[in-house]
Amino acid sequence: MLSLLFLETPSCEAESLIQETCKKASRVNYTLCITALESDPRSPTTDLAGLGSISIQLALANATQTWSHIQEMLKSGRFDSYDKARLEDCLELYSEAISNLTESLKAMKGKSYLDVNVRVSAAMTDSVTCEDGFKEKAGRVSPLTEENYYLSQLGSIALAIVVRLR
Ligand SMILES: *[C@@H]1O[C@H](CO)[C@@H](O)[C@H](O)[C@H]1NC(C)=O
Ligand SMILES: *[C@@H]1O[C@H](CO)[C@@H](O)[C@H](O)[C@H]1NC(C)=O
Ligand SMILES: *[C@@H]1O[C@H](CO)[C@@H](O)[C@H](O)[C@H]1NC(C)=O
Repeated sequence: MLSLLFLETPSCEAESLIQETCKKASRVNYTLCITALESDPRSPTTDLAGLGSISIQLALANATQTWSHIQEMLKSGRFDSYDKARLEDCLELYSEAISNLTESLKAMKGKSYLDVNVRVSAAMTDSVTCEDGFKEKAGRVSPLTEENYYLSQLGSIALAIVVRLR
């Protein structure tokens, strides 16, 4: 019984770090934040900086999958020339976001938190620019709303963590 309690203690403490981190992240969807951070098996035993790296890795995995998804959409033939041009823009924006997130992960490891902030912000701006492209013409609906939302949410989580580390 004692050893069971002892074993459970670390994950309880880390659980509260995840919850605290998600509560302190303003403009972040709490449910999404908890689900995202808990999806990484390392989260329960890491510290705040570790959660910062994990949130960037999640954003990177997400952006990379979205980039592939956009390529499939372009090949699918389901989109007219207007939407195809927007999708081409998004493909470019997402490859830029991927490179900035990759760099921000390195910056995170080097504790260059200002650099992390600048690069993660740039990636989030890319997701907004992608989304806004579809809104330029009335009646158009972005096929990437969910993906863009995830990228900006995961970016917001990383930024909220970095603010506390600086
Ligand atoms: C928050 O995220 C959850 C899980 O991804 C989603 O089901 C819900 O719709 C989101 N809430 C808002 C307000 O976007
Ligand atoms: C992207 O993030 C959302 C929210 O955390 C998640 O539901 C989705 O599975 C993620 N996709 C990838 C490829 O990581
Ligand atoms: C984001 O990536 C692009 C392309 O690699 C680069 O030109 C830009 O400077 C980066 N932005 C930041 C803030 O690092």
